[in-house]
Amino acid sequence: MEILIRPDAAAVACQAADIIEPYVRAGAALGMATGSTPVATYRELIRRHREESLNFRRCSIYMLDEYLGLPADHEQSYAATIRRELTEHVDIPDRQVFSPNGNTTDPVAAAADYENQLLRARVSMQLLGVGANGHIGFNEPTSSLNSPTRIKALHPQTVADNARFFDGREDLVPKLVLTQGLGTIQRAGHLVLVATGAAKADAVAALAEGPLSAMCPASVLQLHPHATVIVDEAAAAGLKLHEYYRFADAQKLPGQGY
Ligand code: F6R
Repeated sequence: MEILIRPDAAAVACQAADIIEPYVRAGAALGMATGSTPVATYRELIRRHREESLNFRRCSIYMLDEYLGLPADHEQSYAATIRRELTEHVDIPDRQVFSPNGNTTDPVAAAADYENQLLRARVSMQLLGVGANGHIGFNEPTSSLNSPTRIKALHPQTVADNARFFDGREDLVPKLVLTQGLGTIQRAGHLVLVATGAAKADAVAALAEGPLSAMCPASVLQLHPHATVIVDEAAAAGLKLHEYYRFADAQKLPGQGY
């Protein structure tokens, strides 16, 4: 696992965009996340689209997860969120942006359909955030490390964390979601996890330096042959091997991509 420590959230976003840009230029299948952390990365990608002719026309985008029971056009559905935060500002056609179908009477079938779609898609790069409890996607603690796309119940802490998107009202946050599983996420060619702020310091320490454990679903990155974790100083505060990560980062061979 590569751990890149950057001074602040802006530098994390810039580093993430540097890593994602070649995948965009190659017209790859990209896995994207919602939540607050990737927003700065999306802004940087949009800037590059406008100012540096970074074109998304040949890309496809696959979302990590979706609430169950919200209409797709609900402003807090993840399908609507990625449109607002990224895709309506770049040149990717809507028909090339995919999410699990959370607005369905048959979520079991919707999960299986999305898993099959992802099997065919071969995602090259998956961008991830991490929950304070170590979740990625909505794979809450105790998720199977080999799980497929499926229905999950949110942890009460995640409901409380996400209430900020629903006027602060936990009762309005859907409690069930469809999420790519940890096995699904692991099939992507390159996992790029971004984390910023002190509230993520324990999760970052656990995922990078703790044991591989379903109690910290993000620790599954330890099994992946190409995982890059980009954190700011605040999110890196709990890491023990801080100095080693800086040293390893500085030894990178010229022209060698992350
Ligand atoms: C969102 C997602 C979640 C978030 C995580 C962190 O698609 O899959 O795992 O990445 O909850 O969210 P923020 O970035 O808002 O702290």
